[in-house]
Order: sequence, then C-alpha cells, then structure tokens
Amino acid sequence: KRPPASLIFIFGGSGDLNFRKLIPALYNLYIDDWMPEKFAIVGIGRKDFSDESYRDRLLEGIQQFSRRKGEQNGKWAEFSKSVHYLRMDAEKDASYTGIADKAREMEKAWGTHPNILFYLAVAPQLVPDIATKLSKVELCGDRKCTRIVVEKPFGHDLQSAHELNKLLTSLFSEEQIYRIDHYLGKETVQNLLALRFANALFEPIWNRNYIEHVQITAAETVGVEGRGGYYETSGALRDMVQNHILQILCMVAMEAPVSFDANEIRNKKVDVLNAIRRINPEDVHSVAVRGQYGEGWMKGEKVPGYRQEESVDKNSNTETFAAVKFYIDNWRWQDVPFYVRTGKRLREKNTVISLHFRPAPHYAFPPEAAETWRPNRLTITVSPEMDIRIRFQAKRLGQTMSLDPVDMIYKYDKDSQGHEPEAYETLLLDAMEGNPTLFMRADQVEAAWKVITPILETWQTRPPVDFPNYVPNSWGPEDAEALIARDGHNWATLS
Ligand code: BG6
Repeated sequence: KRPPASLIFIFGGSGDLNFRKLIPALYNLYIDDWMPEKFAIVGIGRKDFSDESYRDRLLEGIQQFSRRKGEQNGKWAEFSKSVHYLRMDAEKDASYTGIADKAREMEKAWGTHPNILFYLAVAPQLVPDIATKLSKVELCGDRKCTRIVVEKPFGHDLQSAHELNKLLTSLFSEEQIYRIDHYLGKETVQNLLALRFANALFEPIWNRNYIEHVQITAAETVGVEGRGGYYETSGALRDMVQNHILQILCMVAMEAPVSFDANEIRNKKVDVLNAIRRINPEDVHSVAVRGQYGEGWMKGEKVPGYRQEESVDKNSNTETFAAVKFYIDNWRWQDVPFYVRTGKRLREKNTVISLHFRPAPHYAFPPEAAETWRPNRLTITVSPEMDIRIRFQAKRLGQTMSLDPVDMIYKYDKDSQGHEPEAYETLLLDAMEGNPTLFMRADQVEAAWKVITPILETWQTRPPVDFPNYVPNSWGPEDAEALIARDGHNWATLS
C-alpha cells in the first residue's frame, strides 16, 4: 500500500546528503511504485537554481548513486516533474511564508491535506534555529500529518543531545520527531528481528548459557572522504558507536517485544541501553581502544594519514578507530562480553555481527579428529554481503573420523539481483507513512550518549601518546587485538 499524499521539504536541498542519498532513495521508491500517488519534493537551499537546473543537477546524482540508474525509461522525466526548488535563507523568519504558500498550493491542487515532512539535512548547528522557525509555521501544529526528520549527529554529547531534545519536544510533539539512524533501515539489521522473533529455534540458546561472547564490527576502507571538518568534531566513537553500533547491539540483545508497536520495540531497546554496565573512568583504558590511521597504501594506492587530510589539524587527536568491550547487566547477558569495533581505512568494508557459542561440554572424539575445536558461531553479515551463516563441526568425507568446521549460509539477497532497498528508502517510506519504529526516540538517543560518556570524557582528558597508531589496510591498532585476546578470543573473520 502506498503512503498517503505527501509533501516533502528538504532543508539542505543543494547539499551532499540530498544529492547522494535522499533523492536517489525517493527516485528508487518511485520506480518501485512505493511513492504516494500524489507527492511533491521541495529542495530548499541558498544556492541559485531554477526548478529545471535543480532537476538537472539531481539527475547527475541519480546517474551516480541510484541503484536504478541503468533503467530509466523516461521515469526520471515523470518523477522529476514533482521535484521543485525553493531558494530561501533559512535564517530569516520571513522566508518561511514560502513554505506555507507551497503547502497551501499543493493542498488545493490535490484536493486533500497531505502529510508534510520537513527533512533537516543540514549541519547540526543549524537544526535548533530552523526547527524553531519552522514550528511557527501554522501547519506544524498538525501532530498527525506534519513530521520533522532530523539527521545525525544528534548532539555532540549527553548534555547537548538533552538540550536539543528539550528544544525539539517543546516545539513539536515526540510523535512528530523522526531522528534518523540509517543503520536501522538496512535490510539485514531489520532481518535480525525476523531471525530472532519469528523462529523458536534460536531463542532457547540466545543467552548467557550458550553464548560466550558477541562481536560487532563496522569496518570501512574509506578515509574521511573530504569530511575532515565534521569528523574533527566527532571521531569514531561519536560517529559510529553512539548510534549505529549501539543500535545493532540493541537489536541483538533486546528482549522479545510483545507486539510490533513502535514504542514497544523502542522500549525494549532502551532497556538494553540502560542495562549496559557503566564504565568507570579508571577502567576505560582496559575496555576501550582508540586509533588513528597514518599514511600508507590501500590496494596499491598511496593514501594520506588522517592528520594530512583536508580540514584536519596536523596534530589532531581525533580517533578514526574505536573498539570497546561492553557488558549488559541483566539476566540474559550477565558477564557475556560484547566486543565492538569500527574504523576507517581498514582492510575491508563490512559490517558483521557474530555470536560465538560456548564449546561443547565434552568431546568424545579421538584427539586427532580435529586440528582445533572451533566453537559454533552464528554470523550475520549486514553489508556489503547480506547473509546468515551458521558454523558447526562436520565429519570430513572418508573412512576416518576427522572433523572440520563448515558454514551453512543463507544468502539473504539471493533473489534481489542487487535491487534490495537501501536504508534511506525504507526510512523515508516509513516517515511518509508515519511509522516511527525504526527511528530513535528522545530517551534512546540520550541513553546511548550515557553509555559512551565515560569513554569520551576520559579520552578527552588524556590525549593519546601514540597517534597515528595503525596503517591503512590493517585491522586497526594492535591494542584492539589485545583487548579481545586478553579474554582468550580473536576478532572473527568471515573465512
Ligand atoms: C555515517 C558516518 O553515519 O555512516 C560515516 O557518518 C560512515 O562516517 C557511514 O562512513 C557508514 O555508513 P554505511 O552505510 O556506508 O556503512
């Protein structure tokens, strides 16, 4: 079922996110017949574009970034008729009348009151001002039909996230605020809900009695890609752990929801965040590792170190790698370590979750049956592969009792021919439909900040002495290996 008539205003309409992600996502939805029968997209920016030149510019983005770029057949011409540009200075109150006028115009033309989305794809420091000005536009009082979508980073720390929440919830009701974490829109992350809660098979073993530890890796091969200015204020912990990684961790660790109600699912996730053991500042060094890449080689190409990247301080102490060991203090997970790591310029681009089971209690096989006893493992690859792998021991063919670990693999994208929806498609569709399940509630965001605050503060007050401490095309600093090796484990590889 398509969403109701929707009018989408995108602040940051001439910006990078809109160009690379939002318009391609909306266009893909259009080709797949998911866009509302009646819709209009209004890009808002300061740059000078006519509707025509704006559409031409966006088409370049489609040609580079849409998964449907190869099969246009006049679809872009059809779709782009509904794309407009509104040049305005978002800092001036008077500018906002243009928005109200546009909404009235569409309402009249469509003969129906549309859902209205305000997508704030702008620098975080502009969000409070735009949101405040927007809230004075009359149509924002409509709790049911008007929504505001806010991009990450949501705050810079607990205090600023709290203030932003306070401001936004004083201007809009919580049900109107959609805080995006694009990892929650990824197919495989959503599939975690299906795997866990649509099968009776895993539930009995999904706990401390059978699972020895859990790993989550979100590795990237890219550097900061010209985003040095932003990244200098962020670092890997804020950029990836506070949001994406903790959200994945919640999906792995949450209790079974009673229903698919948005708040029910989000409550269960907040429970996990609240149960994560608080890290004492004096323990930070033993449970968290930071790293920064130096210069080196990636796939035969020389790449600069982080400190040599554009808009980065030559003596920057910003971390481009973070690994942390968390514990969740509740009945299900007591004393089961959750190791997470993320970094830029690592050897592979992949996001992988793995659950490592406890060894069998007793092996009756002769000692020569197996070289090593590799415990059972369940691996969920989020991207770029999308699969679920169960590792178990199997007998090698032949007359001897020799055992090897093997993987049973379910390819999640086997029928999609590369056409699986992208995260932003799912999330934009949900926002048009008014389904906030995959968006972050105010308390979720703050609970996640609380989890990383001791690490942030300790790292801030104790500058690193060894940066840069890893080379591109590696798996990060040696200390990250030590973090997990101390407990007798290794970071899992897919092979
Ligand atoms: C973003 C971060 O939220 O996620 C980026 O700001 C990072 O630094 C990106 O590169 C990774 O997303 P994905 O979907 O490519 O894994």
